[in-house]
Amino acid sequence: MKYKFLLLLLAGISLLLATGVHSQHEDIPYQPVANICQTCMCLSSQDSDHRTHFNLDCSVRNFEHILARWPEEFGSQAVAGGASTEIVVSYSGNRIRLLQQLPATNASLTLSCRHCGLQDLQAPLFMDAPNVEALYLSWNELTDNVLNPGLFRGPWNNTNYEPIGLKDLDLSHNRIARLERLLFEHTPHLVKLNLAYNKLSILDAATTAAVGSVTTLQRLDLSHNGLMSLPAELFPKLRSLRILDVSGNEFTVVPASLQQLGKSLVHLNLAGNQFPSLKENSFKGLVALKRLNISSLPALRSVEKGALILPAVEQLDCSRNPKLENVELGDLLSSRNLSQLDLSRNALTTLVLKENNNSASASSNRTIQEPWPRLRRLSISGNPWYCSCELFKALELSGLSHIEQEADGTEARCDTPYLLAGAPLSNLTAEHICNMVIPKKYRAVDEEPPRFLRRRYIILTAIIASVVLVIGLVIGFIVVCVRRRLKGSDYGVQPIRYTSVRGSNLSQFSNLQPASVASKFNNAHAGASNGATTGAANA
Ligand SMILES: *[C@@H]1O[C@H](CO)[C@@H](O)[C@H](O)[C@H]1NC(C)=O
Ligand SMILES: *[C@@H]1O[C@H](CO)[C@@H](O)[C@H](O)[C@H]1NC(C)=O
Ligand SMILES: *[C@@H]1O[C@H](CO)[C@@H](O)[C@H](O)[C@H]1NC(C)=O
Ligand SMILES: *[C@@H]1O[C@H](CO)[C@@H](O)[C@H](O)[C@H]1NC(C)=O
Ligand SMILES: *[C@@H]1O[C@H](CO)[C@@H](O)[C@H](O)[C@H]1NC(C)=O
Ligand SMILES: *[C@@H]1O[C@H](CO)[C@@H](O)[C@H](O)[C@H]1NC(C)=O
Ligand SMILES: *[C@@H]1O[C@H](CO)[C@@H](O)[C@H](O)[C@H]1NC(C)=O
Repeated sequence: MKYKFLLLLLAGISLLLATGVHSQHEDIPYQPVANICQTCMCLSSQDSDHRTHFNLDCSVRNFEHILARWPEEFGSQAVAGGASTEIVVSYSGNRIRLLQQLPATNASLTLSCRHCGLQDLQAPLFMDAPNVEALYLSWNELTDNVLNPGLFRGPWNNTNYEPIGLKDLDLSHNRIARLERLLFEHTPHLVKLNLAYNKLSILDAATTAAVGSVTTLQRLDLSHNGLMSLPAELFPKLRSLRILDVSGNEFTVVPASLQQLGKSLVHLNLAGNQFPSLKENSFKGLVALKRLNISSLPALRSVEKGALILPAVEQLDCSRNPKLENVELGDLLSSRNLSQLDLSRNALTTLVLKENNNSASASSNRTIQEPWPRLRRLSISGNPWYCSCELFKALELSGLSHIEQEADGTEARCDTPYLLAGAPLSNLTAEHICNMVIPKKYRAVDEEPPRFLRRRYIILTAIIASVVLVIGLVIGFIVVCVRRRLKGSDYGVQPIRYTSVRGSNLSQFSNLQPASVASKFNNAHAGASNGATTGAANA
């Protein structure tokens, strides 16, 4: 009895709370629906699977609110239709400050309100539209405090709120700095979560718990948030995470917590971070990884031995790293499925393809002969290549018979040695280069030495110099003679006197000096104080 009463009370309270939240925005009107299809674009279609699609495009219509009901043109199916009906609605590009509760429908729903200037969301949004599938709210002004678990709760069912069907949530380009721990408690089907370009620079315990609780998550975008690390608590439950984008953050080392995604992670983007180097075991345990992006890393100087142990990798983008001078590619020799390797626009001078002893799988003879049978594209343009036998042997080993031009028309060219500078690599073969005698670090100096170093200029300079010297001596001699004539008595007559140091003029001078210095100092001081007083007077 008592138990039932308590339950009733609880239900009553939560109902009150629910209506309380509701009434908060009750007075806010909706956009009128009458003849809406003359303002917005309404489309209905049926595909071969007898699925009905309704498309309502109200983008850039100067709306301040969403519609209260679905357009009459859509008929009753838009409301009642179950999984076989789909509604796609866009309010993007309006000035909708508050997103209100969506009108009732059992259809699967996709809602966009990008560039809406959204600041607030009415909770619950999808109480009457529990089959919402995708919600795109990027490019708005949403902050942490409007994101609460109540937003996503479904219809009330005796004891609890039912979950909603949300699979795809885009909150990128907002002002979110943290998430509530239980934010996703009503969205157990969430597969794709985009939080790029927010302010999640530190993932605190609540935020980590919120994201880490979405066990169904397959794609997570945390790019461009100013992140410096990924907490270890983020990934243990994300067993299905396949695609992770953490590009454009502030990482200086590859987060160790990524290892927890070893079995599932297929695609990892680390571009635009601050790694000075990629060390051994950076990608340890990522045995399923097929696509790795380590491009646009402004500080990266080296990719060290043992870093690129990626047994399943197919596409590796290691381009646009302006300081990258050294890549150990030996580890990649055991990545048999490699099909695209982009090493363009780095600062590489050579490539070394030698098997590292610590390679994950000790490879057979076969692999070193043709390591990458599936390689379709190898981009190496935009590097200052030192065209050596070693480089061409490595390129030959890669299995690509000739190096193609890039799509933008650039081509890999030799930078050194001097003999080959500017020559396209595609014009050269290993045979050609290995038979050429190129002195190591050869730099030709066969142009004429500068003018002043040529022999006749040296002789001329010597002659001019000696003539000048002789003339100078002669003039000096004449001057001395003339002066002797004029002051004959002063010179020569007085013999040089040798005296003891004590009695010498020198010691007299040094005795005198303090006084003269003092008087000088006084003069200077007087001058300075004069200056000071005048300065003060001026001031
Ligand atoms: C949606 O379907 C449920 C049953 O699955 C039904 O009770 C409810 O009335 C339907 N809602 C609408 C708006 O038709
Ligand atoms: C209410 O929810 C429970 C558990 O989520 C579920 O088993 C039950 O079928 C639901 N009841 C109704 C009437 O939808
Ligand atoms: C790698 O990431 C950068 C920056 O996000 C992007 O521009 C580039 O296209 C990516 N590379 C690949 C192969 O997807
Ligand atoms: C390489 O690709 C094949 C077929 O796509 C696949 O069966 C194989 O498991 C892949 N190898 C690795 C090491 O992932
Ligand atoms: C690699 O292993 C071979 C023998 O298998 C050994 O002779 C060689 O010194 C090792 N090289 C390195 C760099 O450890
Ligand atoms: C490697 O090559 C040698 C001789 O060239 C051969 O005896 C050996 O069996 C080969 N090993 C493998 C694993 O193929
Ligand atoms: C490529 O080589 C050929 C002959 O081998 C030569 O005629 C041609 O000028 C070279 N191209 C360039 C761009 O150096």
